[in-house]
Amino acid sequence: MRTQAVETQDEAGPRPLRVQDYEDLARARMDPSMWDYLQGGSDDEVTLRANREAFARLALRPRVLVDVSRCELSTQVAGTSMALPLLVAPMAYHRLADPEGEVATARGAGAAGVPLVVSTFSSRTLEDVAAAAQGPLWLQVYCFRRREVTASLLRRAEAAGYRALVLTVDAPRIGRRERDLRNGFGLPPHVQAANFAHELTATLSTREQGHSGIARHAQEAFDTTMSWEVVEWVRSVSRLPLLLKGVLTAEDAARAASLGVDGVIVSNHGGRQLDGAISALEALPEVVRAVGGRCEVLMDGGVRRGTDVLKALALGARAVLVGRPVFWGLAAAGEQGVHHLLSLLREELELAMALAGRPTLKDIDASLVYRP
Ligand code: FNR
Ligand code: LAC
Repeated sequence: MRTQAVETQDEAGPRPLRVQDYEDLARARMDPSMWDYLQGGSDDEVTLRANREAFARLALRPRVLVDVSRCELSTQVAGTSMALPLLVAPMAYHRLADPEGEVATARGAGAAGVPLVVSTFSSRTLEDVAAAAQGPLWLQVYCFRRREVTASLLRRAEAAGYRALVLTVDAPRIGRRERDLRNGFGLPPHVQAANFAHELTATLSTREQGHSGIARHAQEAFDTTMSWEVVEWVRSVSRLPLLLKGVLTAEDAARAASLGVDGVIVSNHGGRQLDGAISALEALPEVVRAVGGRCEVLMDGGVRRGTDVLKALALGARAVLVGRPVFWGLAAAGEQGVHHLLSLLREELELAMALAGRPTLKDIDASLVYRP
């Protein structure tokens, strides 16, 4: 299957040169309603666009005559080593893009030295992903009304060797994704939330015009009463490092840091939740300031270039996560597509560091960013 995908890609034209080339390849290969689920944001998709626009607006201040004969990209986040300050963002249902799903993503990410954050709604079991993975895995956690369901997931993750937990806090319900409503999007029969018994997730597969199976399922299953006490609760179940994903304000970042979390991920869920929410890149500086070094700060949303990674690091991120592009790589060429796409980002970041006169991650600071 994989070989076939790569051959088809070769027939289709030259090898992709940039992340965005994979978007076109993936669109041609994916069913339109699945493509809409992947690409879409909520409401008018203002925040989805804002994530990209914020990167385009930020200008860099390169330094010259610096020895850049060697650039050093490897780092550690929450105790996990990685080849560059990049992780694969948690995304549900990779089998929408490839028959092997998250197993292929894990292999491709591992080959690139990039950790994969596996979604609660992985379409392969977290144990299957762990068995295939060559690199580090983290688990993203949604908190269910039935806490024992979440607790069992956390225990399974620890037993399978996952290195950290990412609790998503920006999705008590699912944003109004009008593409999905129009398509009546529900999971196709061959894709399931593999970590759970089918009875717990059957709603995900409902298809009805004007409704989203994903939103319906969240409405019946997610714990909408979840508040800050959840941090203590997670800690009572698992000793893995804990990061909160979906923080956009200084207030929440300060609270998270004071509760002793290991990290916060500045994110608006790729523009899929509250439309009109601030872009992730613009929210980053206030979060970094509020946290004041008490925990790690990561970000995601709109990262498509090595220079985007550089900009986020300059504004104080320890690392960034990349979402949709990885799905594009997976849809275009399976495991090898993921590996190649992540390698492109690595090459771009390495070159950007050299051209900016910042050969090590330590050299990347706020002085790299132009402020009018
Ligand atoms: C997501 N995202 C997400 N986040 C999460 O915490 N749990 C999840 O299961 C999912 N699922 C998911 C599916 C799909 C198809 C997409 C596109 C996104 C959000 C994701 O982790 C991340 O925040 C954004 O995708 C980052 O933005 P970019 O890189 O896609 O612009
Ligand atoms: C999404 C959910 C599953 O963004 O997080 O589709």
